[in-house]
Amino acid sequence: MEKIDISSNIKGIHLSSCIMNASGALCSSEKELLNLMNSSSGALITKSCTYYPRIGNEKPRYFEWSIGSINSMGLPNLGIDFYIDFFEKKDINKPIFLSISGFSMEENISILKKSNRSSKITAIELNLSCPNNNIEILGYNLKKVVQFLTYVFHISKKPIGVKLPPYFTDRHIKNMSSILNQFPISFVTCVNSVPNGMYIDIEKESVIIRPNQGFGGIGGKMIKPFALSNISKFYSYLKKNISIIGCGGISSGKDIFEHILCGANAVQIGTKFINEGITVFDRLRKELIEFLEKKNYKSINDFKGKLKTIDK
Ligand SMILES: Cc1cc2nc3c(=O)[nH]c(=O)nc-3n(C[C@H](O)[C@H](O)[C@H](O)COP(=O)(O)O)c2cc1C
Repeated sequence: MEKIDISSNIKGIHLSSCIMNASGALCSSEKELLNLMNSSSGALITKSCTYYPRIGNEKPRYFEWSIGSINSMGLPNLGIDFYIDFFEKKDINKPIFLSISGFSMEENISILKKSNRSSKITAIELNLSCPNNNIEILGYNLKKVVQFLTYVFHISKKPIGVKLPPYFTDRHIKNMSSILNQFPISFVTCVNSVPNGMYIDIEKESVIIRPNQGFGGIGGKMIKPFALSNISKFYSYLKKNISIIGCGGISSGKDIFEHILCGANAVQIGTKFINEGITVFDRLRKELIEFLEKKNYKSINDFKGKLKTIDK
């Protein structure tokens, strides 16, 4: 049987497999990062980090049900120095993406300056879309995105990508794309959790998570249609040298196929990784390869971005 190639390339960064973890999913502590380094994921991304460590919001702050997850974590992370020191001491066997999510421009710039000094960090994913901190979701304020990216590209020496919130209108995506097209961005990751959802425990007649009166970011199966539409629209509006990483609602090899068909170069797994643990990467890899075999595709480039529309 001929080998099926599920490797990928994100603007020159080679991924042996197009499947990786999503930021925030079991990628905060030393143990979790080691686990990911030893897994079959094609790359590793860290929890979004701040300059100083944070303990995050009070628990319960995460809940999962059959078709989704809700979280309001409040960015618990060990701070930039921990992530830099951790990788500095390791033999690296896959690309390392550092996710950053400072609360101000100054904080992000300080983090970026530190990351410039690390030879082990391959690229940066700027989180423009954290939904849980009672601060503005930066990705929804296009003026501020321009200011922010202008600063970032003056400071950072690493390839830069942006993690975007889901957008719900064509115009919003078109406008955001025309901004992103003006910068030397390597990749965009679509999508972060869908902001401001709620889950109710009907026995207790109460919200299920404590922070923010129970409002939280929604992930898991139920957000896949929004991830797909965002990937597909960004794929049509972004310059072709900007790669797309799909994220949202992936729990099977067929879901990965759909993300790539819409234009994703690689995919990230959040809720399903938290739910299933590290073996999820082996399972998804196997399912994707088996599905491509059935379809007679030899590599992800055979069908990437080739989604058909129904013409009259
Ligand atoms: C518990 C939890 C923590 C998260 N933390 C982050 C984070 O720190 N930075 C980030 O960019 N996204 C974060 N996310 C969003 C995920 O990376 C992902 O975009 C979202 O969950 C959708 O993917 P999924 O449907 O596979 O879960 C978090 C999601 C969850 C469930």
